[in-house]
Amino acid sequence: MKITAVIPAAGSGERFGGKKQLKRMGNRPLLFHTLQAFVRLVLINEIVVVVQKEDVRQIERELKSIISSKQIKVVAGGTTRQISVHNGLTVAHESSELICVHDAVRPFVTEALIEKAVNACSEHDGVIVAQPSTDTIKKVMDDQILETLPREIIWRAQTPQVFSKSALREALELAEAENIQGTDEASLLERIGYQVGYVEGSSLNMKITTEEDWIFAETIYNSLKND
Ligand code: C5P
Repeated sequence: MKITAVIPAAGSGERFGGKKQLKRMGNRPLLFHTLQAFVRLVLINEIVVVVQKEDVRQIERELKSIISSKQIKVVAGGTTRQISVHNGLTVAHESSELICVHDAVRPFVTEALIEKAVNACSEHDGVIVAQPSTDTIKKVMDDQILETLPREIIWRAQTPQVFSKSALREALELAEAENIQGTDEASLLERIGYQVGYVEGSSLNMKITTEEDWIFAETIYNSLKND
């Protein structure tokens, strides 16, 4: 089965104060570290990187000079992550049957984790990587707690998220038509009745959102590098 990885990397990093996906970690942009597992993993047939329009040509040039072993397409994203993923899906090779979406800002994804999610896909319309919550989750409004959610059934969604291409396309098109914004792609499939499964991820597969996250990520990067 042919698989295209779509890597949304077109955020403006408002909460971070800049495009963290292009900030250097070690001597390479963060995006490059994220791409490594997808470049190495044989079962990924092509990679689509979605960046801001103004960055397309430069990123294309840089990636081509560093990565030669796999076809990488670079396309322009949109104002939301959902539009960026949709733009990436649009250029996926027509023979691709599965789309593996992964945040550019989760640089420690491993080949084993991608493979685990892809393998579980045979039993579902999509599969996401997630982690059981170790924190107790509260529902709040204003300055008040409304409810404590039962921790045993709370999982935190990560990426990779792998979907049948046709299901993902339908979910994105319907969400667009109905003006619905999901915070991940799985939620868009769930809402129209597709069965999405999950496999257990790792806390190392963290998402870099804030400057504090960058400090954690550099610590992880340095310790993995020295292994
Ligand atoms: O906004 P969020 O934290 O969900 O971003 C996750 C990923 O989506 C990041 O890699 C970011 O660059 C990407 N993104 C995008 N296009 C946007 C907004 C976010 O590709 N308009």
